[in-house]
Amino acid sequence: MKITKICCIGAGYVGGPTMAVIAQKCPHVQVTVVDLNEQRIKDWNDPNTDNIPIYEPGLSEIVAEARGRNLFFSTEVEKAIDEAQIIFISVNTPTKTYGKGKGMAADLKYIELCARQIAKVAKENKIVVEKSTLPVRTAEAIKSILDNTGNGVQFQILSNPEFLAEGTAVADLLNPDRILIGGDITPEGQDAINALVEVYANWVDKDKILTTNVWSSELSKLTANAFLAQRISSINAMSELCEKTGADVTEVAKAIGMDSRIGPKFLKASVGFGGSCFQKDILNLVYIAKSYGLNEVADYWEQVIIINDHQKRRFSSKIVQTLYNTVADKKIAFLGWAFKKDTNDTRESAAIYVADDLINEQAKISVYDPKVSRSKMLNDLDYLQTRSSEENSSSLAIFDNPYEACKGSHAIAILTEWDEFVAYDWQKIYDLMHKPAFLFDGRNILNSKELESIGFIYNGIGS
Ligand code: UDX
Ligand code: UDX
Repeated sequence: MKITKICCIGAGYVGGPTMAVIAQKCPHVQVTVVDLNEQRIKDWNDPNTDNIPIYEPGLSEIVAEARGRNLFFSTEVEKAIDEAQIIFISVNTPTKTYGKGKGMAADLKYIELCARQIAKVAKENKIVVEKSTLPVRTAEAIKSILDNTGNGVQFQILSNPEFLAEGTAVADLLNPDRILIGGDITPEGQDAINALVEVYANWVDKDKILTTNVWSSELSKLTANAFLAQRISSINAMSELCEKTGADVTEVAKAIGMDSRIGPKFLKASVGFGGSCFQKDILNLVYIAKSYGLNEVADYWEQVIIINDHQKRRFSSKIVQTLYNTVADKKIAFLGWAFKKDTNDTRESAAIYVADDLINEQAKISVYDPKVSRSKMLNDLDYLQTRSSEENSSSLAIFDNPYEACKGSHAIAILTEWDEFVAYDWQKIYDLMHKPAFLFDGRNILNSKELESIGFIYNGIGS
């Protein structure tokens, strides 16, 4: 089957960039991205592509090139489903906040909604692709809904997990380490796999396109994220030991990373990992293991989350302890709120939890982040339900100038590794602060020697 029409349900951090790159690389394929959220679609259609709702380096240019040519953003979900041969499901799958599996299992209500909608609309055979990260064997549930509520047409379900990291989404999509496609072993399943392989083969070498059965593909995504997060928790656990023993975690990371069996990536000690995937996927893995009675396996992976929570808490405690055990009414400046640099995404960002702890200690937080909006920061705090929105907004002052944010503060905490922070005039910042001036570098990006020579009392992670 030659693919000429693709639809994607969900215009988020995954669906948006992925479809933009497919459209750019396959000008002969019409790609329509739909979303229930009208405002989001309106923003994707903003005449000025610098205003699209997701910030990713290089994305606005790709959207400018393909939008209106073969890339469309629309709220007409049914029409797009009806016309497409392949439908990607890229809606969010948050951790459940209610009922069985609360706080651990993935909430699949949006996935089910999508499946029902596809079943209702489809009048011809369709390939349905799971792009969202899902618990193993979700494809089975999707298939059952499609087959039992559909109009008698045939559906093939493929699992095609996304491995892009935010902040580097475009580069990751253009030059992926691998593309993974899982499908049925039946001839129809293989045909569906081949159809999707041909789409990616427009720009990805075929030897990087891996095909497996559906369950291997679904589990590989959870496994990849668990392994990546595990490396961060491992180095973060070592960072605490380094602080006690006089070792330096950056030196330790370099020393172990040169062992080619370990490798140098994902060994940066930090205030803790954030993002929409790591915690959610590991909790999901833990839940799946438990549901099969594999308690040791579940406990093993859960420890990755426990260390990560500890690392965030440890950072806020260190600030309080260092500031003479009280931060009440002290101004603490945060540089960065996003969960990593080069994104406006804040989901599970360490900054949220550190701010929450410090506000509990009655500190006043002032924040500067180059890309995150004020309303997002306040929503993030409100979402924790620790205190009222009014209390949150009176404890959090948000600035669009870093020097203003730091002015009069007792301490600065670096929460995101934005490149611009390194280039600041740190002497000027020092002069604007209360003395002694403390600096807590949650990302180890600044030059400690230089800062100490200015007069800062510098605290990094793991040294
Ligand atoms: C999401 C999941 O979080 C992740 O696990 C998965 O791997 C990919 O999809 P992301 O794209 O970052 O990641 O989520 P988000 O930015 O929240 O986008 C999801 C979009 O789907 C939202 O714009 C939402 O409005 C839309 N949506 C949700 C629908 O269009 N229909 C629905 O029924 C539910
Ligand atoms: C991750 C996976 O990398 C990606 O393959 C998957 O598709 C989605 O989840 P993402 O969450 O976008 O991507 O970003 P990532 O670069 O993995 O960073 C996650 C968090 O770990 C960030 O908060 C980052 O700052 C932190 N991190 C990363 C560290 O603390 N230390 C490191 O060495 C690397």
